[in-house]
Amino acid sequence: MADAVNVLVTGGTGQVGLALQRLDWPAGVVISAPQRADLDLSDPASIAATFERTPFKAVINAAAYTAVDKAENDREAAFAVNATAPGLLAAAAVKAKAVMLHVSTDYVFDGTKPEPYVEVDPTRPLNVYGASKLAGEQAVLSACPRALILRTSWVLSADRANFLKTMLRLAADRTELGVVQDQIGCPTSAADIAEVLGTLTQRLLTDGKAPTGIYNFVNAGETSWAGLAGEIMSLSEARGGPGATVRGIATADFPTPARRPANSRLATEKITRDFAIQPRPWRVAVAEIVDLLTITGAIA
Ligand SMILES: NC(=O)c1ccc[n+]([C@@H]2O[C@H](COP(=O)([O-])OP(=O)(O)OC[C@H]3O[C@@H](n4cnc5c(N)ncnc54)[C@H](OP(=O)(O)O)[C@@H]3O)[C@@H](O)[C@H]2O)c1
Repeated sequence: MADAVNVLVTGGTGQVGLALQRLDWPAGVVISAPQRADLDLSDPASIAATFERTPFKAVINAAAYTAVDKAENDREAAFAVNATAPGLLAAAAVKAKAVMLHVSTDYVFDGTKPEPYVEVDPTRPLNVYGASKLAGEQAVLSACPRALILRTSWVLSADRANFLKTMLRLAADRTELGVVQDQIGCPTSAADIAEVLGTLTQRLLTDGKAPTGIYNFVNAGETSWAGLAGEIMSLSEARGGPGATVRGIATADFPTPARRPANSRLATEKITRDFAIQPRPWRVAVAEIVDLLTITGAIA
């Protein structure tokens, strides 16, 4: 019998990590998704021990310190998980001769570009989270030059906490929601990100000459947070769930500890060209998540 293809998924309790575990992986692939109690990314010894236990052939780092506002006053913890740990994972992957995939973010950019960002655009994070994720990209590529880094944005799913679930929760007891309308981006389904990571992992495992480096992946189209909230409300109301009127507000009227880019849009031509990956429209992906929440009774 052929050897198992052991794949380490970090962040297995997160949106993307959960979706990765639900993927239909080819026969022989064994996904290992240790919880934080078994693999604490802020502890280098814990990372080393994980690699001593299992001969991984692929590492997918879907874990991150994702509390963007909290990170402003928790710099050390954010950098430990988002910068140091990815570098250690990448070095361990190289040592194990495993392929390395790492998830990153639109927040590496400052949002001043009028068009969608391409992979080679200059980075300039506006907040600690973005700076820590940028340092993570650099640490990964320096330890493992053939790593694949997937930048994504505005991640949504039926799991865990995210903007979509927050909007539905707020709509359950309010008639009007004030939502920022001057930040634009690409809402992206965690399930779609996982599917892309699955495809890329298979490609890297089977083709030593596959392209690597930084790739953007987001669902197709763009909107503002207010536009996304409006769509979520329509979808929910159409399914008998909560709804509220969305009032667009300015970023300046909704101060947060962390500054955020006004333009978060990521261009996806490179991943389409190199891997024939074609993102589906964000509205279709969001409708699927609202449907899931309806089926599970989370929207009632
Ligand atoms: N969410 C977004 O809107 C967004 C946007 C752009 C890019 N991204 C990127 O997409 C990737 C996936 O994000 P997501 O939304 O799926 O994240 P998420 O739902 O917030 O989950 C984060 C995951 O990281 C784990 N984690 C955090 N600190 C850890 C530690 N010290 N040791 C072990 N595990 C730890 C969490 O474990 P616990 O359950 O134990 O906390 C959880 O499994 C990340 O790289 C993120 O930066 C996200």
